[in-house]
Amino acid sequence: MAFSIKVNGSTHTVDVDGDTPLLWVLRDVLGMTGTKFGCGMALCGACTVHVDGAAVRSCITAVDSIGTSAITTIEAIGATAAGGKIQKAWLDREVPQCGYCQSGQIMSASALLASNPRPTDADIDDAMSGNICRCGTYVRIREAIKQAAQSTGQGG
Ligand code: FES
Ligand code: FES
Repeated sequence: MAFSIKVNGSTHTVDVDGDTPLLWVLRDVLGMTGTKFGCGMALCGACTVHVDGAAVRSCITAVDSIGTSAITTIEAIGATAAGGKIQKAWLDREVPQCGYCQSGQIMSASALLASNPRPTDADIDDAMSGNICRCGTYVRIREAIKQAAQSTGQGG
């Protein structure tokens, strides 16, 4: 069945079963491989994308549930205000180690910052608790989110 989905500002028509996870549509049909597969069960956060600005696990999101909502992936998050600040802070703090979890981490952090420009430690913990990092980059992730939050008053 054909579905039209809006990804990073462009509309794509994809011919897949309605219960196909968005993750596989992004990676296998549209060739956007920045979004990663980890667990496939909403347990690790590697597959996180934004649906209308909210962090969503694309591995358990059926394509037929998306409708006209706007999807943003790691490929375009740097063009958003919060995503740009998060990516800059990630580079400044040299957050990634192996990198596998990091697109999901950045998507969750960007959604947090967009909705809550001054997150507390508890807010950060709450927003990021579903994103697992086997390399243990959690301390740098928190530092980077705080740096990005501090920069939100400087130039929007
Ligand atoms: S792959 Fe989706 S949460 Fe792990
Ligand atoms: S940087 Fe390796 S899993 Fe997070």
